[in-house]
Amino acid sequence: MNNKPIYVTQPSLPPLAEYIELLEDVWETGILTHNGPKVVKFEEDLKNKLGVDNISTLTNGTIALQVAIRALEVKGEIITTPFSWVATISAIKYEDCTPVFCDIDPETFNIDVNKIEELITDKTVAIMPVHVFGTPCNVEAIKKIAEKHNLKVIYDAAHALGSTVKGESVLNYGDVSATSMHGTKLLNTAEGGACITSDIDLDEKIKSIRFFGHDKSKNIVQDGFNGKMTEIHASLGLANLKYFDAVLEDRKLKYKRYHDTLKIDKDLKFQKVEFGETNYSYFPVVFETEQQLLKAMNAFNNANIFPRRYFYPSLNNLKNIVSYSACPVSEDIASRIICLPLYFNLTVEQVDLICQLLLKTLNTKRIEVV
Ligand SMILES: Cc1ncc(COP(=O)(O)O)c(C=O)c1O
Repeated sequence: MNNKPIYVTQPSLPPLAEYIELLEDVWETGILTHNGPKVVKFEEDLKNKLGVDNISTLTNGTIALQVAIRALEVKGEIITTPFSWVATISAIKYEDCTPVFCDIDPETFNIDVNKIEELITDKTVAIMPVHVFGTPCNVEAIKKIAEKHNLKVIYDAAHALGSTVKGESVLNYGDVSATSMHGTKLLNTAEGGACITSDIDLDEKIKSIRFFGHDKSKNIVQDGFNGKMTEIHASLGLANLKYFDAVLEDRKLKYKRYHDTLKIDKDLKFQKVEFGETNYSYFPVVFETEQQLLKAMNAFNNANIFPRRYFYPSLNNLKNIVSYSACPVSEDIASRIICLPLYFNLTVEQVDLICQLLLKTLNTKRIEVV
């Protein structure tokens, strides 16, 4: 029996002294917000780290999605995936657009690119795919569809900071990629997000929207709101950025250990990474049936281990928020998937314990049980 609870995730934190050192600068300047020096430095360092053209940090990933929609001036139907966190559709709805659900690929769990075109109407303005669990979408196919139908592409890249396609950041794709730096993410600022775009004018517009619609001379030139990141959050980002590679490598090691151990159970299914490389920030497993999932969750919880049903339910089933349209693949996957604990402080022994408990619960043959 495991005495200390193991949750699905824990934030990666830098040594406190290193964070305090950055905060001392903030205390000295007395600047807490309004695109201060820490925000500017964090944006510059992150841009260089990821190899992207322009970054605007924001209050959180949900606001990043909203700002992206607003900056692109789209109003109408946005084709998106039902296999995501609710923020994907709440951002669309907050910007007076309508989410239209496209079912997902059963192997990658990302939007099924073969089903997008049949959903395009004269009201469609954009596609908002999600790089689910950091696994890149079929970005080339999505680009082709968007170009053919003159649609904008906004990636919900909340999970995908650190994911790559052809060795480059996946955040380089789409008109805008909106990412999250929430405490649970690979790189965190406690709460935080960012919009990434290669269009410098669009980036300027994003920076204006996040600052009440000001231009550089402080005139209000458009309909904006307050989406700024603070100096306190940017300092945490700067302190964490130093450990970005170490955190990613650590998650990769544990991800591979999970996979190598659990793959002997032929009833378990794993996310297929078909395009590019994931950032290894989640380890999802799909059970053969929901009953198996519930049995495993019960065994885990009894052992003080708390994986998460993520994403559940499929968003098209949130009938108090959206109008239902059938997405059988997403509904099926959502009913059978959990994410196992994965974070920097999780030990390899704990990964092994979780694997053995799971295999024992599923009666997998040829294993050493704990
Ligand atoms: C797929 C997805 N999109 C958007 C968000 C929203 O990000 P935030 O929590 O930073 O607002 C999340 C949050 O985890 C998410 O998982």
